[in-house]
Amino acid sequence: MADRTRWGIVGTGKIAKLFATALKALPDAELVAVGSRTRDGADVFGDAYGVPRRHASYEDLAADADVDVVYVATPHPFHKDNTLLCLRAGKAVLCEKPFAVNAAEAREMVACARQRGLFLMEAMWTRFLPVIRRVGEWVGAELIGKARVLTADFGYRCPGDPRSRAMAPELAGGGLLDVGVYPISLAYMLFGRPSSATGLAHLGPTGVDEQAGLVLSWPGGEIALLACAVRTTTAHMARIAGTAGRIEVPDFWHATKAMLWRDRHAPETFGRPHFCNGYEYEAQEVMQCLRAGGTESRVMPLDESLAIMETLDALRAQWGLRYPMEADCAAGPAGDVTAIMNS
Ligand SMILES: NC(=O)c1ccc[n+]([C@@H]2O[C@H](COP(=O)([O-])OP(=O)(O)OC[C@H]3O[C@@H](n4cnc5c(N)ncnc54)[C@H](OP(=O)(O)O)[C@@H]3O)[C@@H](O)[C@H]2O)c1
Repeated sequence: MADRTRWGIVGTGKIAKLFATALKALPDAELVAVGSRTRDGADVFGDAYGVPRRHASYEDLAADADVDVVYVATPHPFHKDNTLLCLRAGKAVLCEKPFAVNAAEAREMVACARQRGLFLMEAMWTRFLPVIRRVGEWVGAELIGKARVLTADFGYRCPGDPRSRAMAPELAGGGLLDVGVYPISLAYMLFGRPSSATGLAHLGPTGVDEQAGLVLSWPGGEIALLACAVRTTTAHMARIAGTAGRIEVPDFWHATKAMLWRDRHAPETFGRPHFCNGYEYEAQEVMQCLRAGGTESRVMPLDESLAIMETLDALRAQWGLRYPMEADCAAGPAGDVTAIMNS
């Protein structure tokens, strides 16, 4: 791999634009290509972000020999197909969160990457923020004693258009997959895979979860109380309570500071503004892995992305929430929740 990693982006929506901005801030990254479903979409994005190679199909982007790694920035129902397309063309892939619609899809993606020896990672960008990494170090070093309780919420008020990505069942809408995955991923980062996950959801008029409250627990007694929503804005606060202190992370999903209270110590704050817009850190991780010849990230391992998808499946199974693309297959969340959580 050369000194500069050559990136391609599939999709030209909101997150693709933010990621393109982040790549521009990294001297060892080069955004060489974009793929859109339309010629116009590729050209408009290419003009805005100075991308030399503009493809009017995702297939052409995947086949572009000048691309080392593809960032998949389409809505989640397309993550599996877009990721497989790129992997089969020999490309490394960074795929947006949630990794897929369900665990069965995620397993196909992971199997394909592993069979081909290609890099694949879920773009859970929060994990790579310096503040979140520092929080992980504080907890790992037991500065708050044993971490015991996580409370975290991520809710925002979308306009409510039933055809929008947040609301439409055809786009696997709802709070759990869109934003609930952030506090769940944080819980996994702190405590590992939970032994049980339960939740209550309010399904709105389009049939997707407009808000939900979740409880995850671990064999050692650790517990996570989480909330997510797409029609209500919440505080976006993560709090970790331990046997000898506590941590608070305001706006934890794009955190720039965290506060630490240790028993018998003065309070401490760790602050770190984003170098660009926050998406640069996950891009750096991908490039470091590729240069080291790695096929997955230790910070966001594929087995963990898979397990998180299983947790999302288990919660949706409790709510009877299946998406239209899951209607004719066994791929969606199964009825036997216990089996999923114990597998
Ligand atoms: N990491 C984060 O902070 C973050 C933030 C927001 C979203 N996300 C994730 O990123 C993904 C994309 O979200 P977004 O907000 O960027 O979505 P968006 O603004 O709706 O853009 C998605 C893009 O995907 C392409 N696409 C392909 N098939 C599509 C279809 N049937 N309907 C709509 N678009 C389609 C389109 O690009 P072309 O027309 O060019 O093909 C579109 O511009 C989601 O999985 C979401 O969960 C992550």
